[in-house]
Amino acid sequence: METIKDKIEALRKEIERLNYSYYVLSQPEISDFEFDKSLKELERLETAYPEYFDPHSPTQRVGSDINKNFVQVEHVYPMLSLSNTYSEGEITDFYNRTRKSLNEDFEIVCELKYDGTSISLIYENGLLIRAITRGDGVRGDDVTANVRTINSIPLKLHGKDYPALFEIRGEVLLPWKVFDKLNEERAEADEALFANPRNAASGTLKLQNPATVASRRLDSYLYYLLGENLPADGHYENLEKAKSWGFKISDAMKKCRTLDEVFDFINYWNEERKNQPVATDGIVLKVNSARQQLNLGWTAKSPRWAIAYKFQAESAETRLNSVDFQVGRTGTVTPVANLEPVLLSGTIVKRASLHNADIISNFDIHLGDLCYVEKGGEIIPKITGVNKEARFMIGDKVHFIKNCPECGTPLVREKGEAAWYCPNHFGCPPQIKGMIEHFVSRKAMYINIGEETVNQFYNAGLIKNAADLYELKAGDIFKLERWAEKSARNFVESVRESVQVPYERVLYALGIRYVGETVAKRLANAFHSIDDLIHAAYEQLIGVDEIGEVIARSVIHYFSIESNRVLVERLKSYGLQFALGEDALADKTDILNGQTFVISGTFSLHSRDEYKTLIEKNGGKNVAAVSAKTNYILAGENMGPAKLEKAQKLGVKIISEEDFLKMI
Ligand code: IVH
Repeated sequence: METIKDKIEALRKEIERLNYSYYVLSQPEISDFEFDKSLKELERLETAYPEYFDPHSPTQRVGSDINKNFVQVEHVYPMLSLSNTYSEGEITDFYNRTRKSLNEDFEIVCELKYDGTSISLIYENGLLIRAITRGDGVRGDDVTANVRTINSIPLKLHGKDYPALFEIRGEVLLPWKVFDKLNEERAEADEALFANPRNAASGTLKLQNPATVASRRLDSYLYYLLGENLPADGHYENLEKAKSWGFKISDAMKKCRTLDEVFDFINYWNEERKNQPVATDGIVLKVNSARQQLNLGWTAKSPRWAIAYKFQAESAETRLNSVDFQVGRTGTVTPVANLEPVLLSGTIVKRASLHNADIISNFDIHLGDLCYVEKGGEIIPKITGVNKEARFMIGDKVHFIKNCPECGTPLVREKGEAAWYCPNHFGCPPQIKGMIEHFVSRKAMYINIGEETVNQFYNAGLIKNAADLYELKAGDIFKLERWAEKSARNFVESVRESVQVPYERVLYALGIRYVGETVAKRLANAFHSIDDLIHAAYEQLIGVDEIGEVIARSVIHYFSIESNRVLVERLKSYGLQFALGEDALADKTDILNGQTFVISGTFSLHSRDEYKTLIEKNGGKNVAAVSAKTNYILAGENMGPAKLEKAQKLGVKIISEEDFLKMI
């Protein structure tokens, strides 16, 4: 029999796993509502059975977003979270509790709860000196360089009446429009989509290259001023001041004196929030006076003077009619639920993602089941659960398939990955056609044909891979339906012209998994020809800025397959560009050939990224960690003591910015 102790332990394990998917992988598996429900259940059990207390329980911490590539900084005031609720009753309780503790009049400030990633900004003498992520609440990552690219965050304050030193906290957000566009681009490049704007915003803040961050057009709202000499006792009044200093402060903010006013605000914004350019997920209530806040105090995790009321994610219940399994360009098989059409936040939903094999079996879902569909921040609606109580006639249980629905090949899955895929990349029709469609697309070879034509050529047996395009004769095409002699000739001509497309786009066109446009550019800059890339070792690949283990392994895997190498050789023979052009090579040297560098600390003459690029342009290699093979450490200020010690032990040369610039 399951004991209370078992139950607590199982919940802890499950919550830790979900926490990891959410914070580390940026891939939430269930709705916030379901997650909070489990966490609350665990909290309830732990309070009822204190004998099972464990300091490592997920109830005892806030999720960490610490990233080893950034310098970690301790917060002056810990960054706590808010206790939150989905129930109006608990808002009433909060209000009455506050009234009782304070035993005097008070004001409640109602604000929107912005669904982005939180940030702490420090200003000294009117200048932004530091921006830190929440991290584990005690220490966060210094992301100043990235935050400086956010246009709505002032680098220099307006006016004169700001405190000499203060901190302001708020939310960094990716507006809906930017999010949709970003995901469209990622879909085209076959890169993993961001689940919602929140993940996209936090992912963006953690990028190593501030220029990419700048291109993402992040936005911000600030909502909390902290420091020793603030202008007023009132939180509301302080934010008004902050607005005059140039910060972006939301207009959706109201000082309330009664519970009725609070509920009016909640009801109004529950609808109106849908017209906001950024994602919001609730309302935050804060006691206005700092003196009263101090009086009410904090628990270990959150202030007693504030609470968040979370909006229910929009969800609907509908029947599951059937399940399709779709094979993508890279062979990944995605289960898609066909549903009885249902209205969900303004659109009719007929299909929803069923995630992956593990989730299908966890849901224990059957055909005909009533299931819950949700459309949170996500572009594609998803199934979040099954209403088992409503099950009266049981249909067939849904099983993930074992063989590819298109070509019958047994599916495989890589260790640690959730997705199954069809390994028959060269024989599975949707994969072949998908690869060719990608190859001809606008950002790749820009050969002007669409899905239909690729289909037509493939079905007519004219093309079996991208290289076959270069063998096509106008005479063969002309014979097909809908083609005239002239259009056939034009097409063959446009294929011939495509051999001018530069190397980095050809690299992108190959459709190597995880090699999108930006990654292709980086690879082309680091490895000037396809032969250099084919022969690159794993260590060399991960030494390139922004190239991680997953991409490195994918590149190596791609070229380890003979038919891929044959494809490249054939394309070469048709004259495609497989090396950087002379223009691109002009500012390159091989002064640093064979030398490896580790960059550490902060610099004043160039940015870290500029140094990385300089090293690569001059033939050197960047590596992340010091080893016996490292030739130089390019050391700025505040180089980590651990690195310094290791470097000295291994006898690695430590050079300054000036030394380095002299070298090149
Ligand atoms: S106040 C001590 N106000 O919600 C109070 N937080 O779960 C500090 N958030 O980490 C937070 N909108 O990232 C506050 N208007 C708002 C907010 C807000 C969004 C986020 C913030 C915080 C989380 C708390």
